Amino acid sequence: MNIKKHSTQISNVLVIGCGGAGLRASIEIKQAGLDVCILGKRPRTDAHTVLAAGGINAALGNLDKKDSWRQHFIDTYLEGYGIGDPLKIEIMTKESPSLVKELDEWGANFAKLKNGELDQRFFGAHKFRRTCYSGDYTGLSILRTLIKKVDELKIPIFDSQYVTELLIEDNICFGAMSFNLFSCERTVHLADAVILCTGGHTRIWKKSSSRKNENTGDGYFLGLKAGCELIDMEMVQFHPSGMLFPEEIEGTLVTEAVRGEGGKLINNQGERFMKRYDPERMELSTRDKVAIANYTEIVEGRGTKNGGVFLDISHKSKEFIVEKIPTIYRQFLEVQMLDISESPMEVAPTAHYSMGGLLVNPEDLSTSVDGIFAAGEVTGGLHGANRLGGNSLAEIIIFGKRAGLASVNYSRNLKQQVRSNRSICLAHDNIKKFIKKGNQLVRPLQNELRLIMWKYCGVIKNKELLSEGLEKIKQLKIKSQEVDVRIDEYNCEDLALVFDLQSSLISAEATVISAIERNESRGAHQRSDFPEIDSSCEFNIVVRLNKNNNLEIIKVPLKPLNQNLQAIIEGSTPQEDIKNKLLE
Ligand code: FUM
Repeated sequence: MNIKKHSTQISNVLVIGCGGAGLRASIEIKQAGLDVCILGKRPRTDAHTVLAAGGINAALGNLDKKDSWRQHFIDTYLEGYGIGDPLKIEIMTKESPSLVKELDEWGANFAKLKNGELDQRFFGAHKFRRTCYSGDYTGLSILRTLIKKVDELKIPIFDSQYVTELLIEDNICFGAMSFNLFSCERTVHLADAVILCTGGHTRIWKKSSSRKNENTGDGYFLGLKAGCELIDMEMVQFHPSGMLFPEEIEGTLVTEAVRGEGGKLINNQGERFMKRYDPERMELSTRDKVAIANYTEIVEGRGTKNGGVFLDISHKSKEFIVEKIPTIYRQFLEVQMLDISESPMEVAPTAHYSMGGLLVNPEDLSTSVDGIFAAGEVTGGLHGANRLGGNSLAEIIIFGKRAGLASVNYSRNLKQQVRSNRSICLAHDNIKKFIKKGNQLVRPLQNELRLIMWKYCGVIKNKELLSEGLEKIKQLKIKSQEVDVRIDEYNCEDLALVFDLQSSLISAEATVISAIERNESRGAHQRSDFPEIDSSCEFNIVVRLNKNNNLEIIKVPLKPLNQNLQAIIEGSTPQEDIKNKLLE
């Protein structure tokens, strides 16, 4: 079938992605008086943000009066093993209290203390209770609040739109091309600026906390192709607790809030094994440490029959469990007929969060291409080698707002608007070239990639595995040229899947080549052939597409701490082992 219909849409700023970062950015743009339009590939109320369960961090000190942005900075910077961007961390830790309060004023259903202040729970490796929450559905609560605001402001959200390409002329972005997932109608979106809020790439691992066809690395592909750079792609967070069965939902998140509210990890010998890995913080150690502990127990034969470890909260009352973690309570009942107030859950590590991503300026979220901004999980630099739970929801709100503001300034200061028929025609052709008969099917190839990433670039890696994995990705890339894609008047899912595959392959390659380059173990990046952190690896890895369309790597020096931040880190008390290593 030929896609004949296409239309044009114009706004000052185009936001790609209707999760928390995209919505927050668009609110800022509209409130500043500019036209904004949001595109999403999922239904508008079902962006990936709904899966962010346990909470959002803000150093409010409502329960622990000693908490401060400084302590939040220390925890985030040190637990990221010193490779995060200090300025980005400083911005987040300073700005989250006011923006979390703003969300509360806009109607987010956050849990409250008796005095009316926001309740705060413990999350792994935070020195104080600083995670604000709505049960275990905080992301959903935030998303609904933002959508309400977006609707009040009459900001258009076009869902079921698949973006295939950013429109570029002379290193300036002037919009994007998309098609509708059901009608296949193409739209040329013309805009002064584009903000990418497209999430990460953790669906390309077999076990993943993301759902079908989301987090496939589309933003990385769009950005790279337009001329942007990626940073820290080797830093992929495995969450310690994903569900094990049934197979269709393998990897689904079991929120850290279970441990935050007192859940214990136990092996098949009845041992509370975290005492061997982090005797002080136990189950509330950092995600990288808990994930490695769970993984080690499983591969060394102390796991459950189904290949996990036990997570037990049955010592708490049913009332407590239903109040604090209602989704998890229902989830286990529904899919496993398991009442977690009576029996332990079985969990295992699952690919959860992309800590690397598009390289952006931390203050205005601009990229190396004029007119392209990015916010949220699609960007890198904030979390370093290990993200603290609850920092991702803070990130989308704070940097979504900043990206929105920066795009407004950019649009207002633009002297002339670039438009290029050549780029638009090329974007049409780039869609058409995929619609063809071939001898491969897209779903099996996607599945193959997920198995490759799990086996060769999983929780623990080494050079041999990674090199073999890279070779397999390259072979898959060749096969992907032969995919059979047919569309009809009502469905072009295969076309979307083939674009997803293209994004996934390039994201996988960027991840593996970065992981090969980092010859040490640091946070989430664990190499059995280099088991220690190595001070000669204090760099960030940047990936970009060269003129021949191949990925190339550059090691760049870490962003230094300024004097003030250096003093804050030097005066800090926790996590002495990491601190001393980084200050050596
Ligand atoms: O476990 C969780 O609830 C996840 C939170 C996060 O990734 O920030």
